[in-house]
Amino acid sequence: MARPKKPPRWLEAARARDSGASADWLSRALARAGVMPLQEAEQAIRAGRVRLDAREEKEPMAPVHAHSKASLDGRPLSLAWRTRVLQFHKPAGVVSHGSDPEGIGTVFDALRAALPAELQRFGWHAVGRLDRDTTGLLLFTNDEKFVAHATAPATHLPKRYVAKVGAKVTDTKLEPLRRGVKLDDGELTRPAKAKARGDDSVELVLTEGRFHQVKRMLNVVGLPTLALHREAVGLLELDVAVGAYRELSDEEVKAKLHFEPRAST
Ligand code: URA
Repeated sequence: MARPKKPPRWLEAARARDSGASADWLSRALARAGVMPLQEAEQAIRAGRVRLDAREEKEPMAPVHAHSKASLDGRPLSLAWRTRVLQFHKPAGVVSHGSDPEGIGTVFDALRAALPAELQRFGWHAVGRLDRDTTGLLLFTNDEKFVAHATAPATHLPKRYVAKVGAKVTDTKLEPLRRGVKLDDGELTRPAKAKARGDDSVELVLTEGRFHQVKRMLNVVGLPTLALHREAVGLLELDVAVGAYRELSDEEVKAKLHFEPRAST
């Protein structure tokens, strides 16, 4: 499971030529279609186990097209794919990035542990990041376009958080968050929805996702975060237990996350 990579130059050029409808590279196509996760696909290709259009292909970034025929260990493979989206309840203590030199544990490991074998074969991309100590709703997908859609500030997809804070919550403290506050780097935040949930909890709805944004916004108004949880993204409410996942239907992806899923090709 891996985060999106920057496309190589040949792919950009191919996209410019044919509007990007079909060109891709081999290892990524295998991961997206649920044949094997990216790293395994790269290893299998380098080991000569994959044939592409009737020749052995040892280059993981070899171009593939909609009409390409592939096989693994002599068995024909389908590179057809459709958009898949999972909601996952991130536990505290795991990091959202793929590399983990300190061996803390990643959300990719945590997700994989919850998945059946069929879904373990996909290359899953985390849709944005949550801090190591943050819990709650994290989406995963095999479709890079969905990642771009859900994380682009231009989409204005709301993300609802609840923070337990280390000071008394008052409306006076919340008011600046509703107008937008200047963060420690001088950047102004968009107006957010902010309301108290008791004396020591704040509900915050953001339509952007900067680094540590909730914690930094709450710091500006004197409400240091003690614990943070994401409850909802778009109209999708987290509805699985900690460490568990659920695959979303195409209808949910459309209606709750405002994305048109790609149908199987
Ligand atoms: N904002 C934060 O500060 N942390 C998160 O994990 C998510 C949003």
